[in-house]
Amino acid sequence: MRIVLGVTGSIAAYKACALVRLFVKAGHDVHVVMTAHAQEFVTPLTFQTLSRNKVETEMFAPAQEWNPKHISLATAADTVVVAPATANIIAKMANGIADDVLSSLLLATKARIFVAPAMNTGMWENPATQRNIATLKAQGVRFVAPQTGELACATTGPGRMAEVEDIFAAIAE
Ligand SMILES: Cc1cc2nc3c(=O)[nH]c(=O)nc-3n(C[C@H](O)[C@H](O)[C@H](O)COP(=O)(O)O)c2cc1C
Repeated sequence: MRIVLGVTGSIAAYKACALVRLFVKAGHDVHVVMTAHAQEFVTPLTFQTLSRNKVETEMFAPAQEWNPKHISLATAADTVVVAPATANIIAKMANGIADDVLSSLLLATKARIFVAPAMNTGMWENPATQRNIATLKAQGVRFVAPQTGELACATTGPGRMAEVEDIFAAIAE
């Protein structure tokens, strides 16, 4: 299976490294697409080495092929996974915003999409976030629900990204 893994600007980005390893070990072809803010947490080099594929970070990178990457990957993907998914990318997805390579790919793809949210409890419980999630679920986007637990902001509550094994299992189903 060809999996596109979108990584966004959450402290849980480091856990996406373990998710890539699980996918690669299971024999999947993994292509990682990172937002600019995701690169504040983990470098593209880490994902490139783990996935054994080039990591996409730039909408306007010098092209090696005529078709822009956000379209060619959107078309080639069997599954697109966004893990961790920030409140921001969820809001962009729910509203059809395409202002970087990941959000453009998500708008273009017809592949099945899985989203594993990760965020502070206030962001998670905000009615705007819950409304965006309801909109996306109605469109057929699948969610791997976050857990309640200790968060990086030193609080406890819902918003912690699901364990990578659970994300992997949800996709394998
Ligand atoms: C240390 C730190 C941790 C963050 N963790 C999260 C997070 O888990 N979830 C989230 O929605 N935003 C988080 N943010 C804020 C996002 O990085 C910010 O909303 C950013 O605009 C998201 O951009 P992106 O969705 O394009 O990656 C964090 C910011 C910092 C500085």
